[in-house]
Amino acid sequence: MGSLPVVLRIIGNSWKPFKETYVCNRYGALRNPAFEPSRAFAAEAHIGNKLEYDLLWKQAQQDPIAFWEDAARNITWFSKWKKTLVWKEPYAQWFVGATTNAAYNCLDRHLKQGLGKKTAILWEGEDGSSTETSYESLFEQVCQLANALEHKMGLKAGDTAAIYMPLIPEAIVAMLACARIGVTHSVIFAGFSGNAIKDRVNDAESKVILTADVGYRRGQEVELLKTVDSVIDQMPSVSHVVVLRRKGTTLLGPKHLDWKDLLKDQSKNHFAQPFDAEHPLFLLYTSGTTGKPKGIVHSTGGYLVGVSATAKWIFDLKPNDRFWCTADIGWITGHSYVVYGLLAHATTIVLYEGAPMHPHPGRFWEIIDKHRVSILYTAPTAIRAFMRAGNEHLQKYQLSSLRLLGSVGEPINPEAWMWYHQEVGKSRCPIVDTWWQTETGCILISPLPGVIATKPGSATKPFLGIVADIVNEQGESCASNEGGYLVIKHPWPSMLRGIFKNPERYQESYWSRFPGMYFTGDGAHRDDKGYFWIKGRVDDVINVSGHRLGTMEVESALVSHPAVAEAAVVGKQDPVKGQALVAFVTPKLEQKIAVKALIQELKDHVVREIGRLPGPMRSS
Ligand code: WTA
Repeated sequence: MGSLPVVLRIIGNSWKPFKETYVCNRYGALRNPAFEPSRAFAAEAHIGNKLEYDLLWKQAQQDPIAFWEDAARNITWFSKWKKTLVWKEPYAQWFVGATTNAAYNCLDRHLKQGLGKKTAILWEGEDGSSTETSYESLFEQVCQLANALEHKMGLKAGDTAAIYMPLIPEAIVAMLACARIGVTHSVIFAGFSGNAIKDRVNDAESKVILTADVGYRRGQEVELLKTVDSVIDQMPSVSHVVVLRRKGTTLLGPKHLDWKDLLKDQSKNHFAQPFDAEHPLFLLYTSGTTGKPKGIVHSTGGYLVGVSATAKWIFDLKPNDRFWCTADIGWITGHSYVVYGLLAHATTIVLYEGAPMHPHPGRFWEIIDKHRVSILYTAPTAIRAFMRAGNEHLQKYQLSSLRLLGSVGEPINPEAWMWYHQEVGKSRCPIVDTWWQTETGCILISPLPGVIATKPGSATKPFLGIVADIVNEQGESCASNEGGYLVIKHPWPSMLRGIFKNPERYQESYWSRFPGMYFTGDGAHRDDKGYFWIKGRVDDVINVSGHRLGTMEVESALVSHPAVAEAAVVGKQDPVKGQALVAFVTPKLEQKIAVKALIQELKDHVVREIGRLPGPMRSS
């Protein structure tokens, strides 16, 4: 087995005696190791006392509502709730009757506490340029854009706006400006194609698109405005396209508005109105088992409670932390642990617009040293790619500012975990392997780094107040080490509130497989110590580099090509991406086929239809 020597070498180097034999298959577990939190880490941690934690965990399992009610103290409410939870399966309402404002929680309240000068965003460009945005400046920009959206474009609470932007501070300004005025935002990943934008904008009936003329990646310009313009005539709900001109592109379209022009006359103050806790903060489209992505709806109050509690305790956030979550704001990880969960705690976040290995394979480590990053949260695919690139790229850097590491998006194989632990964390930083989904809003299964011993490849235990189980086909709890389906048995505040305009699909996707339980779509088992080991999807969703893709979505894209009669797409294990797509295609009989050219044409076609996300496919 190709990867075994790597594991043995790592163990041989520095891992002190493990009494048991190591057994390691590609996605299986190393048999023995459990890493207890160091005394020093535990002593400083928010939750660092094991006995107290055990008690708290048990109480929170028995009475999750009381736990979440307590956690809601992390949020500033304008008026208090009358009932903590109203549950009419499959619909939950949390903090019923309470009002709040997500932007107020991320900005105003910090300014009131004198944190205006604190750095909110450290932005790094691919070319090595960087900027710092203080909380005060972020507040002012958000207020200006909120004023412009309200007064120049007539947007009001309940409307939807699309955000199609590169990973720059203005993307966060856009999200918070919408949140501030109760406009539900729908962020569309900047790698998606015109068709994907059109589908999402039309489904959400977005009135405005906030975008930039270009993004930068791998030294190239990504033509965002051109992509929007290519479908603008097919999006009747859109009245304005607000464009941040980064390279001075001339705006010609009748709906185009210049971002900076728009903001310059606007007041830097704006009153944050109270919104109902259940007010939809955002829609985020994600792949499911059909050809059409689903618009996952998230609330305001419950969502904020979930992301702020998990951010604080799982990442053990401290005021001086510099938190780098490498996800794009186009994904749920970016929403929850770049933006809302972190800014709610007045954390300094790092944003990097660019490819991880560009212009050199040590780019990540360079950024960590440059910005003194203390918490790094990234995906196993990136970790495996760096591992492959070789340790020499990382050994040039100190990485001494790091104190905690996180992993998200896909199962992390023990080899990658060990490498991350030793080479990046220098055997000093706890690793939190966090399991969750677009639908769950916040992390549901993860170690708490001050109290839970970690095991490479296991996301360990459900978070406080999360009642998770693994069940068999009949919905009965599985015995230890028996494989089954991961389900959640009690509502939690940041759970999705539905699929936009599609209640049947909501019921069918999550609540019909096992009555009374939320079905995650993941397979898992629990070991005899109660640790969860997530195996990945059991449905027609493929996880490529931590990004979800429905096989049907790619199949629909393929059959929309005139040369294709039939197509079937499956996932194949890939040493770096976790899974890769393999498409089996039957061309139409009348086609005269030059196979190689057709394969390339179909790859390009899928990229045109969906975006550059699926990446190169292996074809058979
Ligand atoms: C997978 C990403 C194993 C899982 C936050 C889930 C994971 C899907 C982990 C959700 C993890 C996410 N270990 N698998 N730590 N984290 N997954 O919606 O299959 O993009 O159902 O949310 O990613 O992907 P999504």
